[in-house]
Amino acid sequence: MPTVSSRVIRFHEVGEPLEVLRVERIEIPDPPVGSVRVRVLATGLNPADWELCRGFAPGALPRGIGYDVAGSVEAIGDGVDRGSVRVDDVVLGTADLFGQPSAGAADVAVVNNWCPVPAGLDPVQAATLPMVVQTAAWALEIMGLEPGTTLLVHGAGGMVGYTAVQIALRRGAQVIATAGATFTADLEGFGARVTRYGEGMVERVRALTGGQDVDLVLDTARPSPGTLPDLIALAGGDPRRVMTISNHEEARALGARVNIDELRPGLTPLTALISQYAALAAHGEFRLPIAKSFSFEQWRDAVRLSLSGEPHGKVVLLPGLLGRREASA
Ligand SMILES: NC(=O)c1ccc[n+]([C@@H]2O[C@H](COP(=O)([O-])OP(=O)(O)OC[C@H]3O[C@@H](n4cnc5c(N)ncnc54)[C@H](OP(=O)(O)O)[C@@H]3O)[C@@H](O)[C@H]2O)c1
Repeated sequence: MPTVSSRVIRFHEVGEPLEVLRVERIEIPDPPVGSVRVRVLATGLNPADWELCRGFAPGALPRGIGYDVAGSVEAIGDGVDRGSVRVDDVVLGTADLFGQPSAGAADVAVVNNWCPVPAGLDPVQAATLPMVVQTAAWALEIMGLEPGTTLLVHGAGGMVGYTAVQIALRRGAQVIATAGATFTADLEGFGARVTRYGEGMVERVRALTGGQDVDLVLDTARPSPGTLPDLIALAGGDPRRVMTISNHEEARALGARVNIDELRPGLTPLTALISQYAALAAHGEFRLPIAKSFSFEQWRDAVRLSLSGEPHGKVVLLPGLLGRREASA
């Protein structure tokens, strides 16, 4: 199949997302070896997209945004098992954010790790999964979470934290979560004990533990300077029992752990994780709230909502569902 024309959202220089991102029409090539090309139905946006715009991972430019993709397969690259995927299959997967001139925020995207969207799972819901499931599941795997472990998830009103709570509970951990009001009832419904973040958090968490230390802490809150010492105190003063996904420099200075510093071969493969949590989501055993979905043309509003730091759920773009489904009000 020849290249296909697509609108893409991408940046040519690093800077603030709303200043450097733009929509362009480009040609998307045939999928490389081991990849498929999809007509994008839905793309989940993540804070990581904005960090990339700001230069978090230097590399070739221009570069696209949008890691999480649900779409309909239209071309299959060499080396892909033809028995595992066919043209017109609806899949969810991940686009390459690091070396490609476009990614998932587009009409057409190349997808590297994918699985079928299972029956019963809406493609919009599917497009919320990969980034947060990957981040939460691998962090808990690296930390060595075991049944019975007492885990504090700080920032569980964010979607990585909301995911980590569900994964940890499924694995038999005792979970305490800090979150704002929006998702307290959800998190308690999953089985976590929940309190607010902010002033007085240490005392409130200790009230929930009966004064005991927690075994492990996963900090999934957006960058919040000054919080890690409190989290380390709650883990008995041992910084190695605390892992952050967002306060990288402060954690390194304090001797706490940073998830991306410890990624290694041998972790559960991404495709297996996506597939597992898509199946659970299809059966109502795992879920993520959608804050709002946007048409492709409304992409700036989507970026603004995510950048607010208070989206209260996943932010999703619908490049291919416009006309078939209205973006949510
Ligand atoms: N290193 C990695 O591999 C990796 C991967 C993914 C994400 N991240 C980073 O992890 C962070 C969270 O990502 P996400 O996708 O979960 O974000 P998100 O869903 O956009 O999180 C936003 C939510 O966080 C809560 N929040 C806001 N301020 C907070 C504070 N000071 N303390 C605790 N919670 C607060 C709010 O909910 P409530 O007020 O309702 O609680 C808000 O709706 C981001 O900084 C992101 O860049 C890192």
